[in-house]
Amino acid sequence: MKKIYFNELENYFDKEIEICGFVENIRNIKWVQFIVLRDSTEKIQVTIEKSEEKNQEMVELVNNLSVESTIKVTGSLKKNENVKLRGMEFIPTKIEITSKSDLELPLNIHDKEAQLLDQRLDYRWLDLRNEYNFNIFKIQSDLVKYMREFLYNNDFTEIHTPKLIGAASESGSEVFEVKYFDRNAYLAQSPQFYKQMAIASGFDRVFEVAPVFRAENSNTNRHTTEFTGFDLEFAYIDSYQDVMDLEEELLTYALKKLNEKHGELAKRLYNKEIVVPKNKFPRIKLKDLYMELEKRYNYKIDESEKNDLTTEAEKLSYKYAMEEFGSEFIFVTDFPKDKRAFYHMRENDIPQGYDLIYRGVEITTGAQREHRYDVLVKQAKEKGLDKDVEFYLEFFKYGCPPHGGFGLGIDRLTMLILGIATIKESMFIFRGPNRLTP
Ligand code: 4AD
Ligand code: MG
Repeated sequence: MKKIYFNELENYFDKEIEICGFVENIRNIKWVQFIVLRDSTEKIQVTIEKSEEKNQEMVELVNNLSVESTIKVTGSLKKNENVKLRGMEFIPTKIEITSKSDLELPLNIHDKEAQLLDQRLDYRWLDLRNEYNFNIFKIQSDLVKYMREFLYNNDFTEIHTPKLIGAASESGSEVFEVKYFDRNAYLAQSPQFYKQMAIASGFDRVFEVAPVFRAENSNTNRHTTEFTGFDLEFAYIDSYQDVMDLEEELLTYALKKLNEKHGELAKRLYNKEIVVPKNKFPRIKLKDLYMELEKRYNYKIDESEKNDLTTEAEKLSYKYAMEEFGSEFIFVTDFPKDKRAFYHMRENDIPQGYDLIYRGVEITTGAQREHRYDVLVKQAKEKGLDKDVEFYLEFFKYGCPPHGGFGLGIDRLTMLILGIATIKESMFIFRGPNRLTP
């Protein structure tokens, strides 16, 4: 039998049906018992008249019922203007406890501020019963769905690359080593090498949504040791500008759809507007950005720090992008080569890539890739990587079209879209230097 979800109860007045959910609240007063029952969509009041002879068994059961137990209730739905919750109530003929909860809950599910975030994460399965929390993942699910949809509509193929690998793809220091029989393997820091291999294999356009591991011992609101990467790569581009164009189109598409479906919910639960970009995202060189930030906001840092984006500069770049272009997004280009991966193509020694900053936080690094074997070998050597990445360099020996792509962190993007304070909350299960459970 199909479960009747509480948000479709309006279709079932005065019919005998069965409903089931979590017991959110029990009120036991002189003549009557009220249960607020909750499922993933809505709540409904169940009302039991104590005086009625036929209800005695149920009354006894409810006397011993604990909140957060799950029950199955048979009966019928009645309109009742006096019921605050939706103007209706469920009159049961039979109640069955399908799972009993301990009387003492380790968490206040309905007030997330009542405990520390770490306590909430310890009992994440209870924490997620709060609508604020679980709707993050309803929205995230659709976000990824729309991003995928855009790529399927544009002839991309979804691939699945290994997460156990023989060499670090980004920088060596942030890689988890794992025992692999009698030798060592690493957890993939990105699907970088394999999505590029797909291009060398003649797939014109590929993407992957998969776990990414980073051995970053940092406790910020935006770093985690395992996150979901949204990575793509496509061939026959002329420049990294094409990669930015595609990302801009993809995000605009996804945010538009997301706003149509969840705009109201995002406002109600997170007090955040899902803003659909109206124009192209501004693009600025790193050097020029620092000039603007100094000029406008008197942001001064040491010359030596200007070869990368500081956290503060990211924040201010949002302010700048909003003020100057009315855009929540800004592409920053022309990073120096020592700050970029060896596989970024360079022109006049400048890496042909970018970071995308959204609401003041980096969400993407992208680039045109170096596909010319000799040049790539030279760039790998320069970073002292040539031995480690020998297998990867081989991909470019037998013909590989010009191509580019990017990697985007889904958890960060979710956090920023909904204005959630920390990535610990925008991940179903957070992983950090001090957390491997639940
Ligand atoms: O900037 P990153 O390291 O770039 C790469 O992985 C390249 N292979 C991408 C490419 O195709 N050129 O990571 C990409 C994105 C970041 O912009 C950020 O959104 C997210 O992944 N990210 C993290 N999210 C959470 N915790 C971390 N520790 C993250 N590190 C990166
Ligand atoms: Mg980056």
